[in-house]
Amino acid sequence: MRLLRGAHCGEVVVCPDPEELGQRAAERFVQLVGEAVDRKGVCAVALAGGSTPKMLYKSLASEPFLTGVAWPVLHLFWGDERFVPPDHPASNYRMVKETLLSSVPLPSANIHRVPTERGEPEFVAAAYQQEIRQFFGLSRNEVPRFDVVLLGMGEDGHTASLFPETPVLEESKLLVAATYVQQLASYRVTLTFPVLNHACNVIFLVSGEAKARALRDVLRGEYRPAKLPAQRVQPTGGALTWIVDRAAASKLLDHSLP
Ligand code: 6PG
Repeated sequence: MRLLRGAHCGEVVVCPDPEELGQRAAERFVQLVGEAVDRKGVCAVALAGGSTPKMLYKSLASEPFLTGVAWPVLHLFWGDERFVPPDHPASNYRMVKETLLSSVPLPSANIHRVPTERGEPEFVAAAYQQEIRQFFGLSRNEVPRFDVVLLGMGEDGHTASLFPETPVLEESKLLVAATYVQQLASYRVTLTFPVLNHACNVIFLVSGEAKARALRDVLRGEYRPAKLPAQRVQPTGGALTWIVDRAAASKLLDHSLP
């Protein structure tokens, strides 16, 4: 495992393979949840969607991590959701249910999924925003501070459902937005950058050769957040960590990160 550091990219942990990535991410997850619970008796995490985080979720659902998490006081939210029913094969909620929720003693009241079945995308985004506001006890202009936000990254440098050159990248007021993704010809519901960048800890999980170019461009290339939205994740007052495997890091020159 290699540790690289960069001025704007935080800490980059390079693991030899995807299994190790899942283990390291689970260790960090357990540590950060434990710190939050010790500090305030509760922890709020926004989960990543897609396939990469499955390794983490499966690790958390088994020992030694299963008994290391204070499930009764852990609250799970989703960083983004595809606009499909919760039992749809593409649903991030269904993916988390299958890899994690079905195996851990998390109270159902602690599961805060995006209610995609409740209406049109904008309505669902507003409802989810209200649920977040209610949980954090926020007034209209306050931004929630998640203890941990987990994120993936696409080959195009997108993260959550913040895709290149989409209007939602400029959203500065809403906590949750509905976004039509031309590239996918489908709607998504996503946390916005103000929320991501207000988190205590943001952890990117990136695996595979297919992500190597985007990872190099995001971490080493010029700052082009419209084209590489993941570059815009710069938590103010929070920690940024990239847990990646060697294949994804294959284009990152070892000495390149300052
Ligand atoms: C989603 C995610 C998305 C994902 C990246 C990487 O709903 O798909 O939120 O941002 O993290 O597309 O996906 P993979 O992990 O499947 O490569």
